[in-house]
Amino acid sequence: MFKLPNVFAATLLGAALVAGTAQADGHKYGFGAPASAEEIAGWDIDIRPDGLGLPVGSGNAMDGEAEYEALCAACHGVFGEGEGRWPVLAGGEGTLTDERPIKTVGSYWPYTSTLFDYIRRSMPFPAPMSLTDQQVYNITAYVLYLNEIIEEDFELSNENLATIRLPNEENFFVDDRPDAKNPRCMADCLNPDEMMLAASLSGVTPIGHFVEGADAPAGSHEAQHELEAQKEAERKAEITGEEVQADHGDAAPAALSEAAQAGESVYNGACAVCHGSGLAGAPKVGDSAAWVDRIAQGNDVMIQNALQGFAGSTGVMPPKGGRMDLSDEAVTNAVHFMAETSR
Ligand code: HEC
Ligand code: HEC
Repeated sequence: MFKLPNVFAATLLGAALVAGTAQADGHKYGFGAPASAEEIAGWDIDIRPDGLGLPVGSGNAMDGEAEYEALCAACHGVFGEGEGRWPVLAGGEGTLTDERPIKTVGSYWPYTSTLFDYIRRSMPFPAPMSLTDQQVYNITAYVLYLNEIIEEDFELSNENLATIRLPNEENFFVDDRPDAKNPRCMADCLNPDEMMLAASLSGVTPIGHFVEGADAPAGSHEAQHELEAQKEAERKAEITGEEVQADHGDAAPAALSEAAQAGESVYNGACAVCHGSGLAGAPKVGDSAAWVDRIAQGNDVMIQNALQGFAGSTGVMPPKGGRMDLSDEAVTNAVHFMAETSR
């Protein structure tokens, strides 16, 4: 969205070029007609953050309330909280750095102009472009009011809409990093097997959804139910005053050695990407069948393999899991952690 001015300029230029070419080539190819001013106006409805493009008019949240409730609340909720899985329009302040941020007009959107444009262009979902400009002003004001950005009686107009700044605007900025260019390799290229997972390892590609029990669309329900059962037990205990034990499986976990304890955070940061899920043939931590033969080799062999890397029967373990910045000791501790939790 921060590129709006550029896109806008490019669109105008494109439209001018197309119009010019149509006019010049109309005769040459014998089809088409130049777009009329009305036709262009029908498409040219975008609104810039500085308000350019707004239709003359105004409206307020008091008038918008009933319209919102009739046309929008069925999906977006009476308070903008979102019905079911329909988008949430209000709230969510301070959640942007959470694992599951709630992105709303108030918590996330950069410009008020986008809200007006979006509603006018595409809402209500079943009947886009069916609202009058008056309705769009009223309902835009109402959504801003739900987000506690303007007062109920504020008269929102083409004159002042651009002066209403949204809280997250400053976090939108032009990314001035140079574009990355990857020349195509034609000779002596790297072995693709060794390049695998580089992006996952450096944390560029999210891999949470590979991990069992992670909050992902598929395979997440069991974990969710466990979490809810735990919460329910805690709620009951609060009432009865009983102690609740978190259920971590059948057997009580054996105490970990000091090295293993020190290795847990290394494991989480550098090894779990593969060993947490069994990605790329990595033996999954906690899966004793996958570890019994490895543990039988003795710690020294496993540590050596983890430090230097090796290709075994199930896949390729990169040296230090690809994290050459880690000390030998850190990796060794992680091996202890993995082995001790996988017996
Ligand atoms: C039938 C359900 C439905 C109704 C009714 C509806 N919307 Fe929506 N709305 C949606 C859906 C679905 C999306 C997401 C569209 C997409 O992402 O392509 C959405 C997206 C939005 C968004 C953007 C949300 C975001 O953060 O991306 C706004 C703002 C919005 N609607 C406002 C309205 C307003 C105002 C009305 C009433 C005039 C309205 N909607 C009526 C279903 C609905
Ligand atoms: C890119 C994925 C990946 C990452 C990251 C990774 N491993 Fe591995 N690891 C593997 C694979 C695959 C194997 C199994 C290789 C085989 O036996 O075929 C393996 C095997 C191992 C083994 C068993 C060694 C043996 O002798 O059988 C240990 C120990 C180990 N990894 C430790 C680590 C540690 C410690 C880290 C983090 C510092 C780590 N791994 C990070 C993929 C990975």
